[in-house]
Amino acid sequence: MSTLIQIAKAMVAPGKGILAADESTGTIEKRFTSINVENTEENRRAYRDLLFTTKGIGDSISGVILYDETLRQKSADGMSFVDLLNKNGVLPGIKVDAGAKPLAFCPGETVTEGLDNLPKRCAEYVKLGAKFAKWRAVIDIGVDMPSSTSIAANAHALARYAAICQEAGLVPIVEPEVLMDGDHTIERCEQVTEWTLNAVYEALYMNRVSLEGSVLKPSMVISGKKCARQAGVDEVAERTTRILKRTVPAAVAGIVFLSGGQSDELATAHLDAMNKLGNNPWPLSFSYGRALQQPSLKAWRGSVANVPAAQAALAHRGRMNSLASLGKYSASMEK
Ligand code: 13P
Repeated sequence: MSTLIQIAKAMVAPGKGILAADESTGTIEKRFTSINVENTEENRRAYRDLLFTTKGIGDSISGVILYDETLRQKSADGMSFVDLLNKNGVLPGIKVDAGAKPLAFCPGETVTEGLDNLPKRCAEYVKLGAKFAKWRAVIDIGVDMPSSTSIAANAHALARYAAICQEAGLVPIVEPEVLMDGDHTIERCEQVTEWTLNAVYEALYMNRVSLEGSVLKPSMVISGKKCARQAGVDEVAERTTRILKRTVPAAVAGIVFLSGGQSDELATAHLDAMNKLGNNPWPLSFSYGRALQQPSLKAWRGSVANVPAAQAALAHRGRMNSLASLGKYSASMEK
């Protein structure tokens, strides 16, 4: 089996998912501001250190997505984060996109940039020990949005990124996020998600990407945050898996969802419900950022004394989501 396929399979091994800890310096600033912690390089390092030294992290987490700065940092005892993760049986990954930037002639819409120099950057990341990569495209729903221009531009960039990664030896996580902000209905989310995923898989084909050596990171089909009717857990599970089956080839190694602003427990319940439905051609797991980290971040508040509590919170969310990836979770386990 090729190395790419082996890595992709390991990323979605039974009962495991991915921790997204690849917040850019600007995004982590927002998280730190919410707990009154100053956004310094040492605080960013200390926070990632507490996450990665959580006991038993490798039981529920197969891989961690890192940010460029973090990939080069070290744990308090001097071991590099890459070596520390490897020691704990966790694959190091790297965010390689340069963020969503305004798309010309499409007010309010974005295209994700970062293709310039990507082959060179991927080669360096491989040397530093990364095994997989991530690129996030953003699709916003609104009046006259998304445009076909934005769907096509984002699908094309995702596919070019995925091909470049595979050529360099990195498994690409292909992340087209349909935002849950706004007042749109779940029906509209379903329609836009189906359109987006169809465009993405056509572009991956045109760019000769090996599906077996790739992982999809989609958003779930859910009601817009400000929509009056909020669909329940079973409806989200049914609509999401229906759309995925229509659009995502069975050859794809696995699907790991983003949480996108859902509460931690709801993101777990949704994943569990999809796995309880069964009959899915790919492993369905998680690649949560906020839904895994929020309780830890709140427990930590920048104080060394709170590290054990913060680590316990991460281990708990890891366990809950691991069970959900097997369809064996119930809300009573949260206690
Ligand atoms: P959230 O789970 O917080 O949406 O983050 C996942 C991610 O990696 C977004 O790119």
